[in-house]
Amino acid sequence: MEFRERVKAFDGILFVTPEYNRSVPVVLKNAIDVGSRPYRKSVWNGKPGAVMSVSPGMIGGFGANHHLRQSLVFLNVPVLQQPEAYIGNASALFDESSNLASDSFREFGTKFMQAYALWVETNTCSKAQ
Ligand SMILES: Cc1cc2nc3c(=O)[nH]c(=O)nc-3n(C[C@H](O)[C@H](O)[C@H](O)COP(=O)(O)O)c2cc1C
Repeated sequence: MEFRERVKAFDGILFVTPEYNRSVPVVLKNAIDVGSRPYRKSVWNGKPGAVMSVSPGMIGGFGANHHLRQSLVFLNVPVLQQPEAYIGNASALFDESSNLASDSFREFGTKFMQAYALWVETNTCSKAQ
């Protein structure tokens, strides 16, 4: 299946998700489930991951972020621990033309991506399951 083949080719997976009822949207859960089967042929196994949750509210998708991490533990995805990324009040980060308008988020996003790049480098050979 094309989706599984594409994921297999990735060096890592950065999950960026909104929050639906304190969990992830069903399309993301479905993608995770599709990639996880057939049993013992999961495309997620050992791929270095990171999670960024995004919300118009103040909690920054904390529930979605940690619900997703629960599945990633089972799927043997080594997930970046720090920095955590709970992006709240997301609509205020962009201007009318959808350009990033927040210097503090630009700074945080840069730090986050640098940490994730290092995480991918140091976890690339992790295939233990
Ligand atoms: C069914 C549903 C449940 C939602 N639950 C949450 C929630 O638990 N926490 C939150 O911060 N936002 C929640 N939202 C707001 C979404 O985070 C927001 O709509 C999303 O950023 C926009 O994505 P969408 O255009 O794909 O709906 C919910 C939205 C929907 C439609």
